[in-house]
Amino acid sequence: MKLTQVDFQERRDRLAEQMGPNSIAIIATSPEVMRNADADYKFRADSSFFYLTGFAEPQAVAVIETDADGEEYIYSLFCRERNREMEIWNGYRAGVDGAVDDYEADEAYAIDLLDEEIIAKILNKEKLFYRIGQRADFDAKVSVWIKKAHDASRGFGVPTQLIQLDQILDEMRLHKSEQEIELMQIASNISAEAHTRAMQHVRPNMMEYALEAELNYVFGQNGCVPSYNSIVGGGKNGCILHYVENNQSLKDGDLVLIDAACEYECYASDITRTFPVNGRFSPEQKALYQIILDAQIAAIDAIQIGNSYREPHNIAVRIMVEGLVKLGLMQGDVDQIIESESYRQFYMHGTGHWLGMDVHDVGAYKDQHGNARLFEQGMVITVEPGLYIAPDDETVDAKWRGIGIRIEDDVVATIHGPLVLTKNVVKSVDDIEALMAQSK
Ligand code: GLY
Ligand code: MN
Ligand code: MN
Repeated sequence: MKLTQVDFQERRDRLAEQMGPNSIAIIATSPEVMRNADADYKFRADSSFFYLTGFAEPQAVAVIETDADGEEYIYSLFCRERNREMEIWNGYRAGVDGAVDDYEADEAYAIDLLDEEIIAKILNKEKLFYRIGQRADFDAKVSVWIKKAHDASRGFGVPTQLIQLDQILDEMRLHKSEQEIELMQIASNISAEAHTRAMQHVRPNMMEYALEAELNYVFGQNGCVPSYNSIVGGGKNGCILHYVENNQSLKDGDLVLIDAACEYECYASDITRTFPVNGRFSPEQKALYQIILDAQIAAIDAIQIGNSYREPHNIAVRIMVEGLVKLGLMQGDVDQIIESESYRQFYMHGTGHWLGMDVHDVGAYKDQHGNARLFEQGMVITVEPGLYIAPDDETVDAKWRGIGIRIEDDVVATIHGPLVLTKNVVKSVDDIEALMAQSK
């Protein structure tokens, strides 16, 4: 399943409607980034630019201009021109004809003409929408264009309002359509298959990067790339929240924490599973794991339209604190531990974030009054409680030290209740052990 220009155009229509009359919006894609010397990182279009255009080439800028009564708008795409020699070296380009024929631009220009053509477009518009602060180089360019338009019109033809375009686009992207959820379901299914393969292929003494390769195999076979750097942490490495070295050997008796997923058509998944390297949880690992799983399942249940987005976090914290006290890892009164946040010794991150085209997706977490946002249809959030007992934490019995566990699923808020996109990969102790026993 792929989005078509019908979908992208519908998004442009909605943006133009919100801009109102006599306005212009300017949206650039991401810059190309050098990795070292002549080698670039693989290009990935800017999410908001792609959201509006479906155009995946670098060096592109989209412009939307509404007319004086706000009824119609013109969509222009500035892009790389076709160039036989460059295409032989670096691949096919749509060019200005392709921008019109295949990407439904009303007008298309060579990107080299942007500085020249944009002045006439800015002139006599009342409002200029752009993504203020996204790219310093682009901010500087916009300032120059405004100055040039000011000079060209002797001061009368420049926009009187500069408006943060991200405010509109982020809100649009926060609410996912049925097609977007379908794309995220595909990304989640592929990512779930990758985690399942990792559970089936892990063996004591395997290197973490070799297990990462099993995930990458599934992503690659499906034409996908990771949506963020994969975390494959054995034993105490599971306690490092953003461990990405993945260069240690996996030990018999340890757990391995994998936080990895892919993106499909620019829509991300985000999954964490933690499982025993040898296929069987130890009593301590099982006890801690079960607390986190109970917390995660209860937190997912709280993803109901109208609930605060903080509700899953609050529920997960309470269940985990109760569990920590029961196991003797923490002492004292549950309410007091929650109030003082002393549980942060073992749980130092939030329970979820918006998910979409970006793994930490756009969208405000608070409303205009500063209150926590309530779930609405089509919002997608991760649910990822965890407990991390530092290897050198002398406040706890030695048997607990160095255990790091997180369980993460992706959930859509819907009028029918929470829709778990990532349910294809097992997570109960029994299901994990059964799956791993079958693959010995
Ligand atoms: N994988 C990044 C995160 O879970 O937030
Ligand atoms: Mn996450
Ligand atoms: Mn994650």
